[in-house]
Amino acid sequence: MKMKRTFQIIVLLLISSTSISAQSRLIIEADRGQTTISRHIYGHFSEHLGRCIYGGYWVGEDSSIPNTRGIRDDVVQALKDISIPNLRWPGGCFADEYHWMDGIGPREERPKMINTHWGGVVEDNSFGTHEFLDLCEQLGTEPFISGNVGSGTVEEMSKWIEYITFDGESPMANLRRKNGREEPWKVKFWGIGNENWGCGGNMTPDYYSDLYRHYATFSRDYGDNRLFRIACGANAADYNWTETLMRNAGRHMQGLSLHYYTVPRTWADKGSATDFDETEYFTTIEKTLFMDELITKHSAIMDRYDPAKRVGMVVDEWGTWYNVEPGTNPGFLYQQNTLRDAIVAGINLNIFNNHSDRVKMANLAQTVNVLQAVILTDEEKMLLTPTYWVFHLYKVHQDATLLPLSFRSEKYRNGDKEIEAVSVSASKDDSGKIHITLVNADPGKEHRVATQLVGASVKKVSGKMVTSESTNDYNTFEQPSKVGISDFNGATLSGNDLAIVLPPKSVVMIELQ
Ligand code: AHR
Repeated sequence: MKMKRTFQIIVLLLISSTSISAQSRLIIEADRGQTTISRHIYGHFSEHLGRCIYGGYWVGEDSSIPNTRGIRDDVVQALKDISIPNLRWPGGCFADEYHWMDGIGPREERPKMINTHWGGVVEDNSFGTHEFLDLCEQLGTEPFISGNVGSGTVEEMSKWIEYITFDGESPMANLRRKNGREEPWKVKFWGIGNENWGCGGNMTPDYYSDLYRHYATFSRDYGDNRLFRIACGANAADYNWTETLMRNAGRHMQGLSLHYYTVPRTWADKGSATDFDETEYFTTIEKTLFMDELITKHSAIMDRYDPAKRVGMVVDEWGTWYNVEPGTNPGFLYQQNTLRDAIVAGINLNIFNNHSDRVKMANLAQTVNVLQAVILTDEEKMLLTPTYWVFHLYKVHQDATLLPLSFRSEKYRNGDKEIEAVSVSASKDDSGKIHITLVNADPGKEHRVATQLVGASVKKVSGKMVTSESTNDYNTFEQPSKVGISDFNGATLSGNDLAIVLPPKSVVMIELQ
């Protein structure tokens, strides 16, 4: 039966590549899904960096900006609307300088520190453990806390876990009660260090993997709280880091991270967020597509040590990184967000979905006012970026079943280079609805995708999309809705065949029922 299906699909692809010119070809096996797309792939990351925490979430209880216990209501509502499944905090590089005890107790008594990584500004610790976990409760999201390995101690990390999650009589649980929280919180996702190959201590993989084992041992499960311990993983294509971590510490971890940013030019001059030509746009997309190769190669290493795929890959920092907006603090990483960012987000999320047998979590950097933010604020004003609307479209994939697909894309050409124009992933949800998300990265051409659904009988098609006149379009506080969501009517159903016409530079979600 399986052989017969495989044969059918090969024949369909061969026929299509000879007889149907200038269109991409997609075959979706709607009855063959096995892997759940973890909702945690749609996670976010918020660091004590620039105006992410302060101004982005935290305005304080006395603020005239509407807030609940100091946390702004508009931002919480917007994030609830995209069902954010988890939130990583407090860093980033900040995590390995953060001493959690400075952020508990009466706010006016909390010590101040210098945020040396990010602009050298004063951190007054007014947003600490209680405030973060309150934020997560307001959002209905799972906390993901990154512990300090770089400048902390095993004792400090171990006490933090006890403070948050222990229910009985103990010095840390009693301190939590004294600070106003009777019940412990549930915290599952626990990062043991961040970028320990760089800002987190410039360690070698051998040294860090020993430290990881040490810290992980004393990161205890209290009561029925079960930690999902996440080891610091590789910087982009550092495959030796993954190899060493899996060999030395694989059996002590539940997750291994990976960081990869899309930087259009170089780290010294990354390029502008809004002012770019088509060649720079093309390079941005080409560099984004590299995520697929990275995950494939790191997964192959993990497969050798962990063929049962017990350890999840956690891409806990991804997104675009440009030069900061002119006139803003270089340490604050504040950048605008155009339709190009929406295309980048759509491609990355399709890649994560398609690798969801190994990728169990991903976190966009960063939620508000930093890097590829989904939300920008200016005092009381707030806007939703094009990237936000992609998360809105793609939330249908959360915890749905990934559908296997065979796909051949037409090319997008620039000069003598070419890349795949179209990216796709598909899933089926609990109610039986099928969702296909497609990105046409080509800014100059619509792309047709001849799609065949195998093993499903569908009667109704509808869709939504994110697009705009130019890849450089973005939302401003004066014009906050230039790039948003609109209806997509470019899919026509005929039996089990679906003819899709993707507008240039668009991110599309199709629903079939
Ligand atoms: O997201 C900004 C920074 O990028 C993080 O603090 C760090 O982990 C990474 O280098």
